[in-house]
Amino acid sequence: MKNSWIEVDTAGLSANIRALREAVRPETAVIFVVKSDAYGHGITPIAKHAASEGVRWFGVAHPFEAEAIRAQLPDVNILIMGVIRPEVAPVVAEQRFTPIIVSAEHGRAVAQVATAAGHTVQAHLKVDTGMGRIGVGWPEAVETFRALQGVEGLKVTGVCSHFATVEPKQPERAETQVERFLAASREMESIHGGPLFKHISSSRAILYHPEWDLDAVRPGICLYGYGATDQEMRFHTKPFLQWKCSVMQVKSVPAGTSIGYYGTHVTDAPTRMAVLSAGYADGYHRALSNRGHVIIRGRRCRVIGRVSMNWITVDVGPDSGIEAGDEAVLIGRQGSESVWAGELAKICRTIPYEMLVSIDRGADRKYQRSQSS
Ligand SMILES: Cc1ncc(COP(=O)(O)O)c(C=O)c1O
Repeated sequence: MKNSWIEVDTAGLSANIRALREAVRPETAVIFVVKSDAYGHGITPIAKHAASEGVRWFGVAHPFEAEAIRAQLPDVNILIMGVIRPEVAPVVAEQRFTPIIVSAEHGRAVAQVATAAGHTVQAHLKVDTGMGRIGVGWPEAVETFRALQGVEGLKVTGVCSHFATVEPKQPERAETQVERFLAASREMESIHGGPLFKHISSSRAILYHPEWDLDAVRPGICLYGYGATDQEMRFHTKPFLQWKCSVMQVKSVPAGTSIGYYGTHVTDAPTRMAVLSAGYADGYHRALSNRGHVIIRGRRCRVIGRVSMNWITVDVGPDSGIEAGDEAVLIGRQGSESVWAGELAKICRTIPYEMLVSIDRGADRKYQRSQSS
């Protein structure tokens, strides 16, 4: 038994997928981004469950993630959104993955290795329209597409891009990216002599801009239940991953007790403190020292002292009745209290993505359908 564990409510994932599916036109494919172990939720069970809800496309960063999905789901489409090394081209073709191509040289190198192994890779051209990261720069995109036409071993069947920022109050930057993308795509389609599979929107764009859905959308964080709560958004989702550990020891301490490394907390009144079975080695960020909250017996308890490698210390109050063996919720809900990754991320000056992917991949995982959903 591990010291911390994750509970995933698959009914919550179903509800999120349905909310998105109802908002997006049926012709638009949903490419569910399940990279980085499905944002810490567990790639295989999440992809299998999403497939049972009708998701036919998955987005990953690396070929090993694509292989994990393919082993379970022989018929789905898998977009590899990272830059593949040419030597993996035969596996990519055999397993029917869809990689992105990021330059003419990259495309030719992938094609050459694929051809030598008797394969053809079907790929999407990634256009950097302003993100400043992966992809062929938008001014060269059309020429790159043209150069890759007729190259043996490679068929470019789609074109995609990624937003740097989607801010409804300052839409100009995203609009510029869309204009560049659509202008380049139009030219590519005329070279190609027919439609290409076009996609650009991840969660924030999907939530605010139906006009940018195109042939597919690539939701990640919103399907995990984060960032999709504002009134004006097209649909709303809720988190469904809980992270828990155990109360290891509870003890009474008098006023003036120094707690943990460097004594950064000193009790100002007699209370009871609890030691929990997780720490920063498990992904509970050290920046939560003296600032985070956990829930035990439905009660919010403040983290006191430094979070250490394997332990968290919390103030449970003088008469809560909390005792060793109780469950402590690090992320999740108990009774009327909740602590979600967004709250912890704010304290740590980061984003829920990082909180979620930081959770120990080795933590035990339970997948179950909640009765209430
Ligand atoms: C290329 C690409 N598309 C889509 C996504 C999903 O983004 P989000 O989780 O914000 O929806 C990501 C995530 O980083 C990405 O890198």
